[in-house]
Amino acid sequence: MHVIVIFGTVEGHTRKIARNISATVQSLGHQATVFDAGDLGDVDLDIADAVMVCAPVHMSQYPSAIAHWLSTHADDLAKLPGAFVSVSLASASPFPEEHAEIRKLTEAFFDRTGWHPRLVHQAAGALRYPRYDFLKRLLMKHIAYREGGSTDVTKDHEFTNWNALSAFVASFVDECGATPEKANQAMPA
Ligand SMILES: Cc1cc2nc3c(=O)[nH]c(=O)nc-3n(C[C@H](O)[C@H](O)[C@H](O)COP(=O)(O)O)c2cc1C
Repeated sequence: MHVIVIFGTVEGHTRKIARNISATVQSLGHQATVFDAGDLGDVDLDIADAVMVCAPVHMSQYPSAIAHWLSTHADDLAKLPGAFVSVSLASASPFPEEHAEIRKLTEAFFDRTGWHPRLVHQAAGALRYPRYDFLKRLLMKHIAYREGGSTDVTKDHEFTNWNALSAFVASFVDECGATPEKANQAMPA
């Protein structure tokens, strides 16, 4: 089976997630090709047996490039098994209402794009303070403080549960019902 993994990112954490997914798919004996949302013109769905899309939430929105691509290809994508990995800080929140809010946002995204994946995973993202400009750092520090998160702006803070992500990928591959291949190749974005 060949899995196409598409990601969008602003600060790079979702790229890391997409590459991790690709490595898991390969470790299960399948092929994976990773595409950056900036190069979605290159995606050839004819080679795909399944599609996984990874998108981060920024200011309550997923990247518009991914939304546009999903809307444009909704008919072709409907023929393929699909999975969505949403990346957000709300998923790391101790407050249940934040989790509910992000699930609502994800459902609205599916309704808007017309793409309805079989499986959805809500992954916690990262705080990458050193990469933010002054204002963004201030804003994120304020949000982290409110949520009881780390306010040490000298380093990155990663909240992703990598084991849970691998388990999700394995369940999706299982759901697709494919037999592992002998030779695998991945093209990192
Ligand atoms: C300016 C900014 C706005 C954000 N807005 C939200 C938000 O509305 N909801 C949320 O849950 N997380 C929000 N986040 C957290 C991101 O989803 C998280 O940092 C994620 O790991 C970013 O992924 P990326 O590095 O691939 O861009 C925001 C982060 C930044 C820097």
